[in-house]
Amino acid sequence: MTNEQRDQVLRRVAAALTQVIHPATGEDVVSSGRVRELDVAEDGMVRFRFALQADDPGTLVRQARSAAERVEGVERVKIDISLPSTGAPMKKGAARAGSVPAPTPNSGLLPQVRRIIAVSSGKGGVGKSTVAVNLAAALAAEGKRVGVLDADVYGPNVPVMFGERRQPQVSDGKRLVPLEAHGVRLMSLGFLLQPDQAAIMRGPMIAGILKQFIEQVEWGELDVMIVDMPPGTGDAQLSLVQTLRLDGVVMVTTPQDVSTGDVLRGIKMFEKTNTRVLGVVENMSGFICPCCGERYEIFGRAGGLRLAGQTGVEFLGEVPLEMRVRQGGDAGVPVVVSEPDSPAGEALRKVAARVAALLSHGDTEARR
Ligand SMILES: Nc1ncnc2c1ncn2[C@@H]1O[C@H](COP(=O)(O)OP(=O)(O)OP(=O)(O)O)[C@@H](O)[C@H]1O
Ligand SMILES: [Mg+2]
Repeated sequence: MTNEQRDQVLRRVAAALTQVIHPATGEDVVSSGRVRELDVAEDGMVRFRFALQADDPGTLVRQARSAAERVEGVERVKIDISLPSTGAPMKKGAARAGSVPAPTPNSGLLPQVRRIIAVSSGKGGVGKSTVAVNLAAALAAEGKRVGVLDADVYGPNVPVMFGERRQPQVSDGKRLVPLEAHGVRLMSLGFLLQPDQAAIMRGPMIAGILKQFIEQVEWGELDVMIVDMPPGTGDAQLSLVQTLRLDGVVMVTTPQDVSTGDVLRGIKMFEKTNTRVLGVVENMSGFICPCCGERYEIFGRAGGLRLAGQTGVEFLGEVPLEMRVRQGGDAGVPVVVSEPDSPAGEALRKVAARVAALLSHGDTEARR
């Protein structure tokens, strides 16, 4: 079987598994995170791990198996079932999503912020800021108190994507007041730096400045802060991760192999620092033609799924390439606000819901 054929089978299996629904919750077994590490071997053997939850009916795994077996091109199906956690201590050094102990609510730099997550990738231009901004707007629309910290000093574009170009005010306590757009509190280092200042700073310097900067901002109480990271896996990212004490990271990739290679390095970097990788989002996966609604696979297929399979990190979903996503970004209205029911809007809202679920799962674990 060629790689192309494997990708096709992988996609078909993933689609078939999304039809397997938990009878009580109405969630499918893929987006609820039960199916993990999905992979197809050259000989047509499909393999995945099924993370069984405490209240799952026994038939769910059987249904998943027969859904996968019915897919064209599948020769055999092997499922590794992992049982629900009993709360026993985790093995040292485990740093993958689903295997790391959930973090306690953030108590480091920003005690009023319950969770700090970053949106990152190994590579530039894959849609980190787009995903960060839409995640934030979607969570705010669900009633969460959300902040976005634009940590991309090299090309801060969060203000534009939120349609906010004003200078932040300074409060009586001599602290910066975040701007607010689409229900999201917003701060960008770009407000304070001259454009060429960022280019001459080394990574650790940036993290130091950012730390001071964060402490000088009146964020108030937040349920979640989303940090839009600069591209790459260098010093700047590493120092940022250590400074911010992240509760989790959402990795963004495009389906291209190059991009997934970069994101793999990114995932490794986060694992080394014991930062929980919440999952991977495949962005720009397929172009939806505005005229006919047909989908074209411009950047190849299934990169994100394959990556999730290789690394054991959860696949959080795929966001199609759509003109309105870019237009929304340029116009300062995230697509989840302007067109929440468009394919991209819906995909991004699903990712946001999954991220919220992963973070609140952390809350229950932390209370144990
Ligand atoms: N799904 C999509 N459909 C259409 N356009 C998109 C999509 N995702 C991102 N874009 C557009 O691609 C460009 C790059 O996206 P974005 O700025 O979010 O990437 P980035 O990873 O943050 O880049 P950088 O590394 O420069 O920070 C933007 O113009 C954005 O509007
Ligand atoms: Mg960006």
